[in-house]
Amino acid sequence: MLSVLGLGPLESRELINPSAWPTMQCSLNLVLSDRPMKIPKRIIPLVEDGVVDEVLRQLMSGKEATVYVVRCGSEIRCAKVYKEAAKRSFKQAVEYQEGRKGRNSRRQRAMEKRSKYGRKQQEEAWHNAEVDALYKLDRAGVRVPTPYGCFDGVLLMELVTTEDGEVAPRLNDVLLTREQALEDHEVMMGYVVKMLCAGLVHGDLSEFNVLVDDYGPVIIDLPQAVDAAANNHAKSMLERDVNNMTAYYGLSAPELLNTQFAKEMWALYEEGELHPEIQLTGYFEDDQTSADVDSVLLEIKAAFEEEEERQARIRSADEPDA
Ligand SMILES: Nc1ncnc2c1ncn2[C@@H]1O[C@H](COP(=O)(O)OP(=O)(O)OP(=O)(O)O)[C@@H](O)[C@H]1O
Ligand SMILES: [Mg+2]
Repeated sequence: MLSVLGLGPLESRELINPSAWPTMQCSLNLVLSDRPMKIPKRIIPLVEDGVVDEVLRQLMSGKEATVYVVRCGSEIRCAKVYKEAAKRSFKQAVEYQEGRKGRNSRRQRAMEKRSKYGRKQQEEAWHNAEVDALYKLDRAGVRVPTPYGCFDGVLLMELVTTEDGEVAPRLNDVLLTREQALEDHEVMMGYVVKMLCAGLVHGDLSEFNVLVDDYGPVIIDLPQAVDAAANNHAKSMLERDVNNMTAYYGLSAPELLNTQFAKEMWALYEEGELHPEIQLTGYFEDDQTSADVDSVLLEIKAAFEEEEERQARIRSADEPDA
């Protein structure tokens, strides 16, 4: 069980510094006894449409969005309100957009023209990208918060909590035993494989975008997810995602640091041999082709230099003696 109170060395997952975890005060019992807060402007349309009943509290304000705890009927959920494009940071960089297509060609053309209508379409595409990825990954067997739709730029999803009713901490706030780190790393590699089989690379996977509940890791924050087949940066993003995860779990289980899961996965993916239940080894033998190309280039260079020397010798032999 996840020890939110830092109970002792036998717990396999423990909060590093409970007092520093801002949502520690956000036990659901406390939230429920809170008086609902003033409804943020962007959530008003959802209340008017009856999708949300109350806003209980603000959970987090990140770089890209503000997250609230809301009540929808008898369910407590989470509402992620995206910041406007101008206030967002790196995730809308061009490399993430590559290979993304509008839902129809008129939209696609508008998005490319960057007119006011085009920018609005682009915003909508950004908002929908996360909810689409959540539905896709949920179906593919990756643990993500269950999505409940995206309305006017507000994503409604499951609030991930521990069994004690605390909002789940992020992985960077959790200390793992070696065994737990090995187990969770294996689970995480399985999720990355399933994502890739579903055609997606997270693109910003790190210990800050993984929550941990009593059953293990839950992946969040997917608006920038890239299309594995259509984006030329997909391979490098996959490597970065996997290496971030391995480096974090490797803090508790250093033997992970010698593994090469990203290379293994990508090679299988390219060969069309990756499937969701595959057992990876973490071992990958680098193809020697690049080394061969290097040695061919060296040989060409040597032959070229030899020829230059030969020409120089001929020239100096032809020159009349001084
Ligand atoms: N479904 C959820 N359940 C519980 N907590 C959540 C959930 N979704 C998000 N959070 C909390 O809100 C924080 C911000 O969410 P998220 O990472 O999706 O947004 P963000 O603005 O893109 O963040 P950042 O730019 O800081 O990575 C998370 O770090 C997490 O603590
Ligand atoms: Mg985040």
